[in-house]
Amino acid sequence: MLDFKLEIPFFDAKAAYSHQQEKLDNAIQRVLSHGSYINGPEVSEFALNLAEYLDIAQVVPCGNGTDALMLALMALELKKGDEVIIPAFNFVAAAEAVALLGLTPVFVDVDETSFNINASSFEQKINNKTKAIIVVHLFGLAAQMEQIVELAVQNNLIVIEDVAQALGGNYQHKKLGTIGHIGCTSFFPTKNLACFGDGGAVFTDNLDLAKKIKMLANHGQQQKYEHTYIGINSRLDTIQAAILNIQLKYLGALIEKRRAMATYYLQNLKGISCISLPPESEDHTYNQFCILLANRALRDQLKAFLEKHGVGSMVYYPKATHLQPAFSRFGFKEGDFPVAERLCHSILALPIFPGLAPVNQAHIVALIRSFADEIK
Ligand SMILES: Cc1ncc(COP(=O)(O)O)c(C=O)c1O
Repeated sequence: MLDFKLEIPFFDAKAAYSHQQEKLDNAIQRVLSHGSYINGPEVSEFALNLAEYLDIAQVVPCGNGTDALMLALMALELKKGDEVIIPAFNFVAAAEAVALLGLTPVFVDVDETSFNINASSFEQKINNKTKAIIVVHLFGLAAQMEQIVELAVQNNLIVIEDVAQALGGNYQHKKLGTIGHIGCTSFFPTKNLACFGDGGAVFTDNLDLAKKIKMLANHGQQQKYEHTYIGINSRLDTIQAAILNIQLKYLGALIEKRRAMATYYLQNLKGISCISLPPESEDHTYNQFCILLANRALRDQLKAFLEKHGVGSMVYYPKATHLQPAFSRFGFKEGDFPVAERLCHSILALPIFPGLAPVNQAHIVALIRSFADEIK
């Protein structure tokens, strides 16, 4: 089995194109022909389509997922020094948005098995400066929203859900991103709903907030050259919106494919003593499939072993956000968030994307099994 080498990338962006090539080509061609490259009809069509899919009042498309978080926070008009709770184990975007707006990121540790924050992890952090919480449904798994929202409501906190890795997932029959006050997402090519470049969106049932977010994304104006707010320029390109209108129709099917691949990994990697597997849950969209090894040396060894055999893998994330040099002025130190820090040393994401061939997945499993035998 292992005498041959298969080249298996960690992610193949082209797979998303080839699954509906003709429809995508036609949609892109239509935009090239009509010429409304900025704010063309496909953009508002996509906002309506996504709102219908999510069953939410308003969707504001924007340039990317980082802008989406930034716009959501800008709309809240918080004061310098106001505190926003965010997970220590996460992509950097939430911390950036908070800090760039002069707000204080209050990191909290994550749960050992879900990798998400939960109500008990942030209860102690709430004080009279705490104004909002950004809940990230990491790797596609829903955070425990019932308890989080309950605690947030008791303390008057705005709940922003970051569904960049979990769009299309549910929690108690509600779409993720529609449970808190504002949802934010990214359409980066690796996401569940992906375009072929950058893209993002903010969504909410609060019409006043939605109106403000829409203006903030458009230089703070509703009417041309009449600037009510200091805004930014953050637009979803018409071509990307045209692509998303097609991809959205297949989002459910694409998530089912991810779930089937995750089930295969869960069943076939079970019982390997040197690795722990992610939770098996209906609330998981498996945007990433992350396994844990006992320590950094073993994790790096498995990564190198896979690479030697042509298989890509990724470390999401190698360093917790509170320990990044960019955030040193907030005064956190090693040991502050032990779970987040431990995860950074032990985690490894395996290939999981619609288009990953079953034979390739079987090969990845066989490689991991032979690695485990080798280190016994
Ligand atoms: C959880 C999360 N939030 C936000 C972002 C930022 O999205 P973008 O790259 O579109 O700015 C990402 C991107 O990877 C992400 O994973």
